[in-house]
Amino acid sequence: MFDKKTIRDVLLMGQRVLVRVDFNVPLDNGNVADDTRLLASIPTIKYLIENGATVVLCSHLGRPKGKIVPSLSLRPVAKRLSELLGQEVGFVGDCIGPEVRKAVEKLQSGEIILLENTRFHPEEGANDPDFAGELASLADLFVNDAFGSAHRAHASTEGVAHHIPAIAGFLLEKELKYLGAALEKPEHPFVAILGGAKISDKIGVVQRLLDQADQLLIGGAMANTFLAAAGNDMASSLVEEDSLALAKTLLDEAGSRLMLPVDLVVADAFSEDAEKLIVTPDEVPADWRAMDIGPNTVEKFGEALKGAQLVVWNGPMGVFEFGPFSAGTKGLAEAVAECEGTTIVGGGDSAAAIRQAGLTDKIDHVSTGGGASLELIEGKALPGVEILLDHDIKDLR
Ligand code: 3PG
Repeated sequence: MFDKKTIRDVLLMGQRVLVRVDFNVPLDNGNVADDTRLLASIPTIKYLIENGATVVLCSHLGRPKGKIVPSLSLRPVAKRLSELLGQEVGFVGDCIGPEVRKAVEKLQSGEIILLENTRFHPEEGANDPDFAGELASLADLFVNDAFGSAHRAHASTEGVAHHIPAIAGFLLEKELKYLGAALEKPEHPFVAILGGAKISDKIGVVQRLLDQADQLLIGGAMANTFLAAAGNDMASSLVEEDSLALAKTLLDEAGSRLMLPVDLVVADAFSEDAEKLIVTPDEVPADWRAMDIGPNTVEKFGEALKGAQLVVWNGPMGVFEFGPFSAGTKGLAEAVAECEGTTIVGGGDSAAAIRQAGLTDKIDHVSTGGGASLELIEGKALPGVEILLDHDIKDLR
């Protein structure tokens, strides 16, 4: 399921390669505000050009709903990527059509071009076969390196692979190795940590992790619902009333394998400069709300991580974007970084927390995917991966 043919397995000299990357990055005043996904694509791009291929990059950016939205143009991304690569990255203002074909045909071996946002066309999200065929006709080979979009069956992630041979780039390969294969046959002790807001968004993930992990540590707003289900009055904390019964069932089933916070940082308002207190879960004052896990919980969770052979973490432990409520997430990030087993951090907020704490280098794998990493942890097949050629297929077709 995860053993796909990669760019290492094929001859690239003289090949025109269409590479789907995930350059869905935050922009600030027309500049790329976070380079993480660009940097993550560089090993694949460099390998392709060093081996004599011509590189045609494509991606989506934001959700323009099939219309041209100038603020969601990938042009600034081409500029930033050129700086990071130290090589010019051309840009063309569409992803299909005669202008694109001309630009692509002019490219020499070792040159790179980025096409405009694929989602400016409604056919992208609809996975329209003709549109996918047009994209595919630009190249001899398709390389999917857009892990963050691999859970989408769109024309540029899945459709295109029906038309030309399709293989994985290095980023996709790495993500599959860590989030896919490592979770299929986890090494034990395996400790999983889940945070973030909603149980209802992550129910499949909670269930799979309870099946696989020796210990599941739950923090963040998600813990509030479990704490309420365990009989605590969570006052004004975010609690998902609709998920209380489910949380109770999971608590009963998991027993001591599921660990909840033993103390909380609570605040009298949802604000950075609110009054704060550290309390046990049965002491949350009326009208106050949980904003972070407390120091005793950080210590207890840290103890649980000692000796783990595999750690998977997804979701912050509190409102870490507010300085006074970031200690729990930071403390946990440090404990994960110290762990000697394989450490994997799922994308989104927890990856941002790891970056903010300057700990990225101390984690074996920080995923570039948000939704895609959750679906993989949950054990779901990703359409952008399923369609790629298996490693043991001799021929390219
Ligand atoms: C992401 O950032 O999670 C991916 O790029 C997918 O974006 P989407 O949720 O808009 O499909």
